[in-house]
Amino acid sequence: MSQQSNLIHIYNGIPFTTRSSADLLQSLDQFQARDDDLLLVSYPKSGTHWLAEIMKLLYSSKVTLTSAIEFGETTKLEELNNLTTKRIIPTHLNYHMLPKDFKAKKCKAIYIIRNPKDTAVSLYHYYRENPNLPTIEGWNTYLDMFLHGEVVCGSWFDHILSWEKHRNEMGTLFLYYEAMKKDPFQSVRRICNYLGINISENEIHEICKKTSFSEMKSNVEKEKYEPSHTVCSLTSNRKLVFRKGTVGDWKHYFTNKQNRLFDEMYRTKMDASGLAKHIHYEN
Ligand code: A3P
Repeated sequence: MSQQSNLIHIYNGIPFTTRSSADLLQSLDQFQARDDDLLLVSYPKSGTHWLAEIMKLLYSSKVTLTSAIEFGETTKLEELNNLTTKRIIPTHLNYHMLPKDFKAKKCKAIYIIRNPKDTAVSLYHYYRENPNLPTIEGWNTYLDMFLHGEVVCGSWFDHILSWEKHRNEMGTLFLYYEAMKKDPFQSVRRICNYLGINISENEIHEICKKTSFSEMKSNVEKEKYEPSHTVCSLTSNRKLVFRKGTVGDWKHYFTNKQNRLFDEMYRTKMDASGLAKHIHYEN
């Protein structure tokens, strides 16, 4: 893949698509956060849209789910400024690039994590199907790039470790894709506890039903393509998002050697990580 492609530019050493303009990225620190802003944070392909749908149902119409803060041009900050409702703001930014004012105001943030092997496979398909991402040569080259942080949004390891290192500054809540698949009720309850939302068990069950993979996928298939409707900074076409929604798909892609290399890198990078204990990582 050519990083020189006109679809990608490098900012702070991290590949971004040109949907995130360099001017916007540069002006992020001027953003004025509000105490009640809520961030939905993820490395791409970790379940961002799933989490966003849960949030929409939890808050119904009382909030605005914005597009990713890093998506667009410099006018973006003003657009967000003009919103009068509570803002739920998705982002794939690592902690270092997050606008400073979110940190100063200690805004709530929910970070969703997925087994990086499944994330890698999911992102591989995104590269193949999403016209906003450059063409890739094939799985082997791609996986090497993923491991070395040369894919869009940079290294999975750096991303998660940056948020983990500063987890107490904003009191970030970490959610795990696989735990959410296994017991969505429990995960939605964790979100409610974190946000101080009081709803009945029946309502939680209803939210879990409405946000199941099959339900979301079939709803999206009926939607009209709406370019302004975007949670992930990498696409506005939600139809590209709902692929398989399973755990362990990586086993269909990794060779033994690739698996060994990945495990070695994971062990080295995640050695001191407390979160690693909770991540559904399969050898
Ligand atoms: P796959 O490509 O493995 O199917 P993101 O929203 O961060 O872009 O993540 C997309 C991944 O989450 C895709 O994974 C997608 O299928 C999966 N996904 C989306 N909605 C889901 C849901 N309701 N339940 C489980 N997985 C979901």
